[in-house]
Amino acid sequence: MVNYNTEPVLKVEGLKQYFKSAGGYVVKAVDGVNFEVYKGETYGLVGESGSGKSTIGRAVIRLYKPTDGKIIFNGVDISGKMSKTDTEMLRTKMQMIFQDPMASLNPKKKVGEIIGEGLDIHKLYSTKEERKAKIDAILKKVGLAPEHFERYPHQFSGGQRQRVGIARALIMNPDLIIADECISALDVSIQAQVVNLMKDIQEETGSAYLFIAHDLSMVKYISDRIGVLHLGHLLETGTTDEIFSNPIHPYTKSLLSAIPSPNPAVEKNKISLTYDVREAGIDYTEGTEHLIDGTHYVLGTDEEVAKWLSE
Ligand SMILES: Nc1ncnc2c1ncn2[C@@H]1O[C@H](COP(=O)(O)OP(=O)(O)OP(=O)(O)O)[C@@H](O)[C@H]1O
Ligand SMILES: [Mg+2]
Repeated sequence: MVNYNTEPVLKVEGLKQYFKSAGGYVVKAVDGVNFEVYKGETYGLVGESGSGKSTIGRAVIRLYKPTDGKIIFNGVDISGKMSKTDTEMLRTKMQMIFQDPMASLNPKKKVGEIIGEGLDIHKLYSTKEERKAKIDAILKKVGLAPEHFERYPHQFSGGQRQRVGIARALIMNPDLIIADECISALDVSIQAQVVNLMKDIQEETGSAYLFIAHDLSMVKYISDRIGVLHLGHLLETGTTDEIFSNPIHPYTKSLLSAIPSPNPAVEKNKISLTYDVREAGIDYTEGTEHLIDGTHYVLGTDEEVAKWLSE
């Protein structure tokens, strides 16, 4: 169980990430987002393509310099200029698993070497034997065998390659793993295996996950809490149950209504809700966070929230 009465592993406050486009205008990819992730927790970040999910992940791991706002990781503000110690802490204790394992693994390197890279960079062993033992243990943990050490990425299946990606992150013993669409490139039959592996690992290590995905059924399965993102704004957040059983924001409702039901009778009679922010007359920048209940928040003006609650 996640303990919410502790300091979160990650705290994101008013995060803005703007880009200057080629035409000279500003793309507000992330426009003032707040959320926290606790030890042992999986926070699912959902939203349609272009809503800013990857940008948040990349800003949090500091591939970008945030335009505004704060990112607190393990109690350390990492949003500005970082000391050497803080950079080292970030580079080891926060890890990322990518969508396309083939593209993110060096094809010329043996898998064992790929997995060991982080150990080498950060000098996390004293003898060669210790290094080998650490890599073997991680291979085993992700369901691969010691003999896989000597193989190259192209000799693996997609699911196995993603296990290598997980192993590479895991060997650093991270406090936070950012998984950006890490299963969407895999066969559906393999997705559940990888997600279950991630869940087992989390139970063992207590690592927190920022799980970015657009497949809501998988997010529902893995997440403790969910954040719904649209056009760079976090519109609603709460426990998986709060979001799925009591969605408040019309955008959340439309997202949920688009999930196909496994029951054909239900599917046949289902009404998909359409949502258009302009038609709805909603200006996200006017909204503030309203507490609904427990950990359930929705972004809107007082009038909007009152209206949604009465619907
Ligand atoms: N480096 C960049 N320069 C300019 N614009 C960018 C950059 N990165 C992202 N964007 C823009 O920011 C917005 C959010 O992009 P982002 O990749 O974060 O979305 P996403 O939610 O991850 O989408 P997807 O589900 O397709 O992965 C988009 O409009 C995108 O075009
Ligand atoms: Mg993305």
